[in-house]
Amino acid sequence: MSQIYVIDLGGQYAHLIGNRVRRLGVYAEVRSNDCKASDLQDAQGIILSGGPKGVKEEGAPEIDHEIFQLGKPVLGICYGHQMMAHYLGGEIGTEREYGFTDFNISKKDSQLFQGLDAKQVVWNNHGDAVVKLPIGFEKTGSTETCEFESMENVEQKLYGVQFHPEVSHSEHGMKLLENFVLGICKCEKDWSIANFRERIEQEIKDYVGAQKVFLLVSGGVDSTVCFALLNQVLGPERVYGLHVDSGFMRQDESEKVKQMFAEIGYDNLHIYDAKNNFLKAVGSATEPEEKRRAIGEEFIRVAALATSDLELDPAEWILAQGTIYPDTIESGGSKHADRIKTHHNRVDGIQKLIAAGKLLEPIKDLYKDEVRELGIKLGLPEEMIYRHPFPGPGLAVRTLCAQQNEKLKIKNDPTLIDIVGPEISAQILPVKSVGVQGDARSYAHPALLEVTEIDWDKLGKVSVKITNSIREVNRVLVKLAGDSENLELQAATLTEDRLDLLRVADQLFHDELRKAGLYHEVWQAPVVLVPLVNEQGETIVLRPINSTEAMTANFAKLPLDFVKKVAAKILNLKGIGLVAYDITNKPPGTIEWE
Ligand code: XMP
Repeated sequence: MSQIYVIDLGGQYAHLIGNRVRRLGVYAEVRSNDCKASDLQDAQGIILSGGPKGVKEEGAPEIDHEIFQLGKPVLGICYGHQMMAHYLGGEIGTEREYGFTDFNISKKDSQLFQGLDAKQVVWNNHGDAVVKLPIGFEKTGSTETCEFESMENVEQKLYGVQFHPEVSHSEHGMKLLENFVLGICKCEKDWSIANFRERIEQEIKDYVGAQKVFLLVSGGVDSTVCFALLNQVLGPERVYGLHVDSGFMRQDESEKVKQMFAEIGYDNLHIYDAKNNFLKAVGSATEPEEKRRAIGEEFIRVAALATSDLELDPAEWILAQGTIYPDTIESGGSKHADRIKTHHNRVDGIQKLIAAGKLLEPIKDLYKDEVRELGIKLGLPEEMIYRHPFPGPGLAVRTLCAQQNEKLKIKNDPTLIDIVGPEISAQILPVKSVGVQGDARSYAHPALLEVTEIDWDKLGKVSVKITNSIREVNRVLVKLAGDSENLELQAATLTEDRLDLLRVADQLFHDELRKAGLYHEVWQAPVVLVPLVNEQGETIVLRPINSTEAMTANFAKLPLDFVKKVAAKILNLKGIGLVAYDITNKPPGTIEWE
């Protein structure tokens, strides 16, 4: 099988490249930068990824210089491009380029650019650049600021590009990667999830032998696919799936997961009802971190309780986890497994299995899109596979709590009035939510805007201005329906009634999204219950966003007639007095409110 190695020089760039190469039908593996050139002998080509540092910065990742002497094609991307130039005698200077850039190909017959127009839009993100080429290299393209945006040494099969072909913003990035992988490295298109599945299945059989497998199934895509796969390979009698119902799931969610498996013939998913345990554990906590901590700790206790009855003897049992590729590192297992280990280090039954080295991670070499593809091939319903992500602590972090009653204090903030102008009325709300600025967490107030006619683009700009100018505001909402005149913050804790109310609103919104064909138009659509009350009841905030990897996000601009219709329906629910829409990007807001 053809194989490409991607050397990880920082961040998530390497995995993005690996994923793109696999999309071309060629198997790619990500290797850490401290691997030796001799470890890469079986590759047909090597790609050096981008990374967040400059090559001359302290602590900048390095690689084995011998990699350039292997005689194998090497493509350097961004940091990898600079590293190639730096190692081979070129010079690096400071040249900044961020975002979309016009790239002009100067060497039209470069094999790397075959079939590409001489001018195209690429995506750049760098503070340094190659300012002098190493001997033996020639320039193949440039941008306005970057003379040596791309370079090559055909004889030694070394290629470099400053921009990022792996991101979709580079319009012909995939074609460039294809030229490298299929053209220059001469790889065969011989990788697919279908034939990889055979390998995974064999690995499972070899690892498990005659033993049995225990798996915690959250209902998320990874653990769901993992459970189905194990069932298919080993048979349900040798697989024990445990789903902990924390009471923070969506409407009938736990039952739905169990039923879905039953429908495809697996009745070995056991639900452990821990609703009361979790509510009790959170108790009267109102602060987000305190709630999260209580939930995390309770999970450990519940997992211990639920597994102790099973008496998982390491001679007989293996623990399986739905770890996926971006969570793994090369040496000594996986980052994710380490996290799980700390999470379960007080769960005796699970700990015994891990200590005995009985940890199976069958989908650890797959990317999310590949896990989904495998799930479909295993016969899982699309609805299950293409669902929005859902946080571990579930609706508990979407049900805001408050320690004490508070009147609306900050009604007429002069800066706010100045920014929004006379046509918009605005107030700063007495509640707080989590946000992120730089790398730091913020915990500040939302501003609520009221307009006669919603214009998403205009409001988006106002939202940015407000959060940039008023330090105590990290989030902006626009009112959709209800009375916002006499809002008060009401003391509230996490209760079953409040969770039920949120479940109904959440279900209503998601049903409507599906009916309108909008469910897959957004990446996630949290619904948040906030104890800001008027005479009719509490506030519901809709938080649909678009994102690719959740690190950044934009609020979704859903069709206005849809939004108004849904808001009216939610306002009709008993106990809801106001419906608002979150128009904050991430940063400065986070996707979740807590
Ligand atoms: P934030 O709120 O940080 O969320 O912008 C980013 C993404 O992570 C999800 N999320 C979680 N997922 N356990 C999870 O499994 C958690 O504790 C958790 N908190 C946030 C969130 O839903 C979003 O997709």
